[in-house]
Amino acid sequence: MTPTIGVFDSGFGGLTVLRALAARLPQVRFAFLGDTARLPYGSKSRRTIARYAAQSAQFLVREQGAEFLVIACNTASALALDAIQDAVTVPVLGVIEPGASAARAASRSGDVLVIATDATVQSHAYAAACRAQGLRALEKACPLLVPLVEEGWTDQPVTAEVIRIYLNELNAEAAALGLNPDTLVLGCTHYPLLRPLIERAVPAGMRVIDSAEAAAEAAVRQFGGGIALERTAGQEARNGVLRCFATDSVEKFERLGSRFLDRPVGKVELVDLGG
Ligand code: DGL
Repeated sequence: MTPTIGVFDSGFGGLTVLRALAARLPQVRFAFLGDTARLPYGSKSRRTIARYAAQSAQFLVREQGAEFLVIACNTASALALDAIQDAVTVPVLGVIEPGASAARAASRSGDVLVIATDATVQSHAYAAACRAQGLRALEKACPLLVPLVEEGWTDQPVTAEVIRIYLNELNAEAAALGLNPDTLVLGCTHYPLLRPLIERAVPAGMRVIDSAEAAAEAAVRQFGGGIALERTAGQEARNGVLRCFATDSVEKFERLGSRFLDRPVGKVELVDLGG
């Protein structure tokens, strides 16, 4: 039987992680859940995020038979990884450690910048993971970016200007602290869609790390050995390897999700996880 990897996000931004995973593990079945009814997680408390994330993880494991879980949501990874691990019995991978490891591999100066949601920044999960890798990290919340991506404004001048302001502030803070950052971590599911604008706004030579790509690499390392190499063949099987679930707004998910996944998401199924 082909194994199932469950991928969880607060919304459909986590499809950027699924895209990176599917490119590396084409033989695997994926069940993706976007908790769109309760998005955004990035402005909520640890307690609430942990409750929502644990319920979502249980849905993927108990009802979809996921044998591994990838927590694509940076906010849930930062604030609720323990709660998720306590709620299910399968291996769970978050995106924070892989992002910090990729920053370690990229940075020469040892100083890195991280942009993320408010909750992720307040948790200092990236700073702690970077410290464990011997890096100094300066984090900044960029709360306007998720709504701009949700609106589909990934190449509007207003979005470029918002990014420029956030990054100027962050670079000024880094300079005031005597840091010499050479790497920027995109610590939110939605930011990979802004990568072209972000790359234009960073100082020359700064490397941009996509935690979605880093998490997919880590998943292959962690789960790859446990995944039977039973290949599904042909288009019919290909269509069967991804099922998407959302707790609200399936139409919006179907419409915008393809941007994140880079191919049509197909029919999204509505689920009710309770309160
Ligand atoms: N998925 C969240 C993250 O990666 C962004 C959206 C939200 O705030 O729920 O942090």
